[in-house]
Formats: sequence, structure tokens, C-alpha cells
Amino acid sequence: MNSPTPFSLSYSRFLMLFGIFLLCSHLLSHAARPVLLPSPQSVEWRKGHFRTDRPFRLENLAKRQAEPVLQALPCLKLHQDMQTKRVVRLELLPETTGDNPEAYRLEASRDTLLVQAAGRMGFLRAAQTLRQLQSSRGIACCLIEDRPAFAWRGGMLDVSRHFFSVEFLKKQIDVLSSYKLNRLHLHLTDAAGWRMEIKRYPLLTAMGAWRTDSLWKEWWNNGERHYASSRTPGAYGGYYTQEELRELVAYAAERGMTIVPEIEMPAHSEEVLTAYPELSCTHEPYKQADFCPGNEETFQFLKNVLTEVMQVFPSEYIHVGGDEAGKASWKDCPLCQKRMKELQTDRVDDLQGYLMRRMGEFLGQHGRKMLGWDEIASPGLPRGTAVMVWRDAQQARQAAGWGCDVVMSPGAFCYLDSYQDAPPRQPEAIGGYLPLEKVYAFSPTDGLPDSLRAHVLGIQGNLWTEYIASERQVEYMLYPRVLALAETGWRGTDAKEYGQFRERAAAHTGTLRTQRAVAAFDLRHEVGERPETRSTLRHKALGAKVAYALPYHPYYASTGPTALTDGLRGGWAFKDGRWQGFISKERFDVTVDLGRNEKIRSVACNFMQACGAEIYYPSVFRVSVSTDGRQFSELSNERFPFSADEQQGVRTLCWKGRAVRARYIRIQALPTAHGGWVFTDEIVVL
Ligand code: ACM
Ligand code: ZN
Repeated sequence: MNSPTPFSLSYSRFLMLFGIFLLCSHLLSHAARPVLLPSPQSVEWRKGHFRTDRPFRLENLAKRQAEPVLQALPCLKLHQDMQTKRVVRLELLPETTGDNPEAYRLEASRDTLLVQAAGRMGFLRAAQTLRQLQSSRGIACCLIEDRPAFAWRGGMLDVSRHFFSVEFLKKQIDVLSSYKLNRLHLHLTDAAGWRMEIKRYPLLTAMGAWRTDSLWKEWWNNGERHYASSRTPGAYGGYYTQEELRELVAYAAERGMTIVPEIEMPAHSEEVLTAYPELSCTHEPYKQADFCPGNEETFQFLKNVLTEVMQVFPSEYIHVGGDEAGKASWKDCPLCQKRMKELQTDRVDDLQGYLMRRMGEFLGQHGRKMLGWDEIASPGLPRGTAVMVWRDAQQARQAAGWGCDVVMSPGAFCYLDSYQDAPPRQPEAIGGYLPLEKVYAFSPTDGLPDSLRAHVLGIQGNLWTEYIASERQVEYMLYPRVLALAETGWRGTDAKEYGQFRERAAAHTGTLRTQRAVAAFDLRHEVGERPETRSTLRHKALGAKVAYALPYHPYYASTGPTALTDGLRGGWAFKDGRWQGFISKERFDVTVDLGRNEKIRSVACNFMQACGAEIYYPSVFRVSVSTDGRQFSELSNERFPFSADEQQGVRTLCWKGRAVRARYIRIQALPTAHGGWVFTDEIVVL
């Protein structure tokens, strides 16, 4: 028998040790590597660190423009030593960055840290990267060449439904700007509260900024929706003074963020029209949501308000809302009718177009641009008008086709008030399901032809706060999902890879939670999508024809008449294309034709409840069967009490029993007394 020679033994041992050494050094170099988010456009890692705790020379050729870099590395100031060859060099170099003011170049070696940018904004972005490159060992050696893919990388916070303090807004600016987001859009006005001091119209805040229900849901649902004064016992609310807002604007600008104010018009204006009812068509407080566009006073009011808004906010874009106008009172209002005659139109929609156009012109006369939700899009808006798309790419195509720029924030990908994880395990939210992966998957140019893509200014996440009453909950819903938008907005839409993004997002979530006191959702506990969605279910009704006594709603058609027998179950999102929706006052009543008589032991149907979206479990579930399609015998008829305890979930209602033979199965589900919707995804027959 051959025994291994001493040489072969030591050689194989050498190989093994060498392998372990290589693996360890690989792991160590990887472990030490900073986790950058958003990813730079180009990064080349090098060995070692530039130690910031050792002496060096500072060559600041960019002077004040480079201040953000010095602020990011305060220890730089402490160790200046003109004798050393170690150097920090800050250069104004327009040609390295092209024409993008946010571009920068950063090179760190063991004895040189070089930062180049065309101006302050580029140094600011470089500084934000430097903060992520730092560790106790200094700045990781690397070469980074970087620039944003999109100019607009925004986050919207609704401060109307629930009010949040200036200090809290500053904290969010600190965090959001560290991920290179550059717009904070404040939804300052809505039915639930007016939040900006307007000196000319004091009642807007004296009355419209306060209510006695602190929770929006109770205020909205208790039937009264009344306002209060700040002195009313239990008054909830508040507003920002112009001085506070100016300070906030300056605070944000220091960090490379622009605050974009939104003043809603012509709708979502119940608070204005209660404080100043003469601006509505009927002049009745507590009755109207829409301004009267037939009344010249409306225009004077809006111009006066926007004048004060422009005095406080230097933003190029002023957001004028424009969404969801009901326009109901315009049809019967003499002033609106007169205006329509002047405009030679019989469409109330044209009144909104008229109002938006006049506002856009007014803003243009003051050197600003109008921005509004996608309902403002129409041909003939002033040049430079931008549309914030909240519905889908179809709205973007239309607006861009009319020459508007667009900011993409479609609800399906960018509404961060949706559940971020399995709803039964989450605090109550408005509904829907938008996990990190789906936010990350969004590309703002999707659905637009090449010829219109240049109109896309960028991307924005929106946090509506109907169901978000606390600062902790704001943070919980924002982070980490807003990081996915930061990544797409900065890095762009190419070469996305969710697995590695999720690792980086998880690392940053950990840092946010432990080092920056941000109440971010902990990705380590993510449960994810309903497991049922992953497979196709085989059962006796698969592919069977379904006859609908009452039709499904076209908005929630799923795949149409085959949806309930296609074997595909819906996920947590009622808009995921697998759920079929019925306006429940018309009941759910379908008959499945198996094609021939079969032995049946169970008939089951999933139903969704999503209270925020007014989707409820049915109150009655009835199953009957027939061999000829005419004579049916009832197998079950069960009642279920309504309960809102389960805010969002999926429940299977089922008949199970001794086998029967039948070809036709009729399923009826009756609504609750609350009305709303019935949503189902599959009829499962075994
Ligand atoms: C919106 O969600 N109504 C803009
Ligand atoms: Zn009117």
C-alpha cells in the first residue's frame, strides 16, 4: 500500500492552508468593504484606507464650494500638517463632471484623497458618499465616478391627514438626503388640515388646522368632519409658520434638498371652503370639496396664497394638486355655467383645465413652473409644466405627449402607505401590498416610448398619512422602501439585481435602526407574499366555464371570465391582477360548469378583506349544485358576522361534506351591511 510521502503530505497541507488564506483574505476584504447606497455609477475598490486620523496637507482649490466635504470629515480639520506628503485635494473641475451639477469624482489611496466636482452640489454628493465610505479605519481606498440617472429623486409626506413637527421633518431631511434624495414634497393642504401660515387668510390655520379627533380615520368616518380652534379642548393639529418653513427650506438646501410645497386645488379643499365658504359654488361650509372656478374671487384667493407660498419656497416647481376633483357642484352653479359658456364648452372637465392653465400662467409670470397630479394634464398647459403621475404609464405617455415633463410616482410602485409585508402581521395600513422588491423593480421610464423618455424628470415615493398617525409609523413605512427609490433614482434602471440590493438595504436598515434612531421596518423579519401565489392549484373546476349572474367590475377584472378557475391565487395586493372585484351591494353570484357530472366533496372560495380599501369578507356564503343547470339543491348557507378587527387578510369559505354528483356549482356571497367590495380569486372544487 502506498503511504503518502512527507512531501506530498506537506504540499497538500500547503495547498489547503493557502486556499484557506485566500478565502479568509477575500472574506476580510469583502467584510471591510463599505456598503454604498445608492450604488455609484462606477466604483473600483482598492486596497487599504486613507487614514483620517493621521496628519495630512489640505489643498482646497474649490474653497467654499467644497465645504460639504470638510463637514463630512470633521477630523480633516484637526490634522493639517504642511510637512507630510499625505494630502487631501479638493478640486473644482467642471470637465470631469460634464454638465451634471451633482456629478463628482472621488479617488482615495493610502496617502491621497482627491475629490473633484463642478460646484457645491457635486461636492455635497461626494460628501454623502464619503460618509458611507468611512469606518474606524478611515476611508476605504477606491475610485468612484458618479452622477445621478434622474434629476428628481423625491419623497412626499402628507402632513395634512396627520401633522408632524419641524424637528421630525429635519430628521427626515437628514436621513433622506444621506441617500441622495433631493426633493421633499410636503402635501400641506387637504380636507384634514391646512398646514401653512398664510398671513392674508388667517382662518385657514385658525380654523382649518385643528380638529378634535386626533386619528384621521375617526375624524373622517364619524360623519361630522368638523374643524376646531386651537383652544378647543382636545384640539389636534397644527401648522408651520412661515418663519419655520423658511428655516426648514434653508436646512434642506444645506443638505442638497429642495422643499416642494403642495397647495391643493380645485379639490381636496374642504378646510378652505369651510373657512371661506364664499369660494365654493354653494357658499355652504362643510359641504363642498371643490373651489368654484366660475367665481373670479377663487382666482384672486389662489393667486394670493401662491404669492405667499412663493415668498417662502424658492422651489422652481410649485405643486398645485389637481387630483380627484368631483366637480359635482359645477354643473348647477350659475357662475360655473357662465364660465363654461365663455369657454364654449359643455364639459365641466374643461373648467378644471381652465383653472390649471391660469394658475400655470400665474406661476410662470413669477418665474416658477407648475407641477400637479396627473389629472392636470391637458393640451395647451404653459411650457415647463410638469405632471406627477400617480396612476400609471398611460397618464405619463399622454402628459409627455402633450409636452409636459413627468415625475413618476405611480401608486402600484411608489405609494409607501401600502403594506410592506404580509398584512395580518403588520400594523394597520391603507391596503395594498408593496414590498421592497416591488418598489425596487420600478423603472420610471417603463411604458414610455424612447421618443418621450427625455420628459421623465425622475421618481418619487409618496407617503399618504390617513393611517399613519405617529412619527414612528412614518419612519416604519418610509424605510427601507424609500431606499429602493433612492437607488433607482440615482443609479438608474439598468443592471438591477434585487438580491444584492436587498443585502445593502438590510445593512442600512440596521444602521438606521441602531445608530440613527430611525424606526425602520426590520427586513430580517420580512414574511413576504402569500405562499399560495407561488403555484398553480389543480382542482376539478380548473379551466371550467364561469357564468356571472352579475358582472365583475371592469377595474378589477383580473384575467376576465377565466380568472376564477385558472388555478392562480391572489396575493396580498388586491390590485395584483389575480383578484376579481365585485361591488358588493350587487352581490357575488356565479355558476361554474364542470362540463359533465363529477363527484364533489368540497367547494371553496377565498375572499379578501382590506378595510382601508372598503373590501370586506361577505356576510353570507351559499353553495348549491345541479346536474342540469336548472334545478339546484343547496349544500350550505352560512352567515358570518362583520368584524373590522382583521383589517386586511384572506379567508377561505368552504362547503365540505358527503360527496355529491353535479355538473353545475352555484356560489353566492352576500355583502355586509357596510357595502363596499367583495374580492375573490379562485373557486376550488375537489
Ligand atoms: C392621489 O393619490 N390622489 C394623488
Ligand atoms: Zn361654481
